[in-house]
Amino acid sequence: MSRPASVSRLSPALVAHLPTGLLIDGHWGPASGGATFEVENPATEESLFDVADARPEDALRALAAAHRAAPVWRAVSPRERSELLRAVYSTLVARTDDLAALITAESGKPLAEARAEVAYGADFVRWYAEQAVRTDGLVRTAPAGANRQLVSRRPVGPALLITPWNFPLAMATRKVAPALAAGCPVVVKPARLAPLTTALVAEIVRAELVDRGLPAGVVNVIPSSHAADVTEPLLADPRLRKLSFTGSTAVGRTLLQGAAAQVLRTSMELGGNAPFVVFADADLDAAVEGALVAKLRNTGQSCVAANRFLVHESVARDFADRLAHAFADRRVGDGAQEGVQVGPLIGASAVDDVEELVSAAVDDGAQVLTGGDRPDGRGHFYPPTVLSGVGHDARVVREEIFGPVAPVVAFGDDDEAIELANATEHGLAAYAYTRDLGRAMRVAQEVEAGMIGINRGLVSDASAPFGGVKHSGLGREGGEAGLEEYLETVYVAL
Ligand code: SIN
Repeated sequence: MSRPASVSRLSPALVAHLPTGLLIDGHWGPASGGATFEVENPATEESLFDVADARPEDALRALAAAHRAAPVWRAVSPRERSELLRAVYSTLVARTDDLAALITAESGKPLAEARAEVAYGADFVRWYAEQAVRTDGLVRTAPAGANRQLVSRRPVGPALLITPWNFPLAMATRKVAPALAAGCPVVVKPARLAPLTTALVAEIVRAELVDRGLPAGVVNVIPSSHAADVTEPLLADPRLRKLSFTGSTAVGRTLLQGAAAQVLRTSMELGGNAPFVVFADADLDAAVEGALVAKLRNTGQSCVAANRFLVHESVARDFADRLAHAFADRRVGDGAQEGVQVGPLIGASAVDDVEELVSAAVDDGAQVLTGGDRPDGRGHFYPPTVLSGVGHDARVVREEIFGPVAPVVAFGDDDEAIELANATEHGLAAYAYTRDLGRAMRVAQEVEAGMIGINRGLVSDASAPFGGVKHSGLGREGGEAGLEEYLETVYVAL
């Protein structure tokens, strides 16, 4: 049978060994009833592979495997867990070509960005290999003098990790690595739209566990086209002790309600609406460079993507023109092709949503400086678009765009910039460009966001705490804080 072109671009060895089943207790196998769903290449709309479609009973089998593995895994020494993770890190790096090609095929991002994602994602594994041996406790004398307090840390227990499609490798490693480092077995529910890369990462971990004679049920994977069917029974099961989710605020709220029944520990990395503030004293060339990353990384499909460009009125038009020029220069296309800088959106409905936001802005008087027209032909493409003269209340600034559209809104003074930056229920990332240290520090203190980039368009780093305030979520991933999310504190009074 002839393979679609997108599949022939993957190495034959990768295609031959790509896991497309469910991983339960160390074995890849079909879903109960044998159902599958298709994974599509968003650049070509070709079907890539059929993936096993987990049913509720499969999810419970996966949790049972994680539950059985829990006592063994928590007894494995931190050093041994660390060494396992270090070996996984080395394999991820060694397999960069395969992993990047797969990320591009299923998510559409350009190969150079996919390679950067492999490096970023592998870094979480390296970081938590280093942190696995550093789960500190405390011994002290109680203030009243007579007693001792002994505070120690324990793994929370089996964790359900629900990962998104936009960074199918890095968002999986950002959860799996700290969970394993802390001693928690996991059930991973990868995104329906891009489950293949996550499955390959899980296979790399599985092989490493088996080689070391460790229980393979430590890592289980249950792709599913009906997320609620598999997550609801898991959330209701007392064997599950932790939920970590990355995705929209709406889905996060529903999961939080489900998690309340078992009073689960939760980490929620939810939606954003990042302001990108350009003050009058900013280096505009640097601001445009930063904006290219903050807006066009993964075609704007990131929770930390700059959503609103708040620019001082004295430089607003100049900035918008320069940004439009830089956007118009970007090569848009199939990310697997050499030189492509901006890939497709994940699906047809994503293009519809972006198109609708742009036309609403135009109806309200915004001007399109570049882009704004959906191309004909195959693939879910939308061009990098700059809108100028956008009103403070336009839908395109109030809603998370998740696409390559940069609305430019003018502000008058610093107070107004900060007020506009905070005029959202979200508070994940924010960016500001200024040469004035006092102004930068004011932004750092007054803008309501979990992560703030000053004269930088990218804040993501495996060693830093990633997460938001307000409706953008709970908890942190990455850094020291990411490990805490998988540990309980136990206090013994002596
Ligand atoms: C996200 O979009 O959720 C994550 C992006 C990042 O880690 O940089």
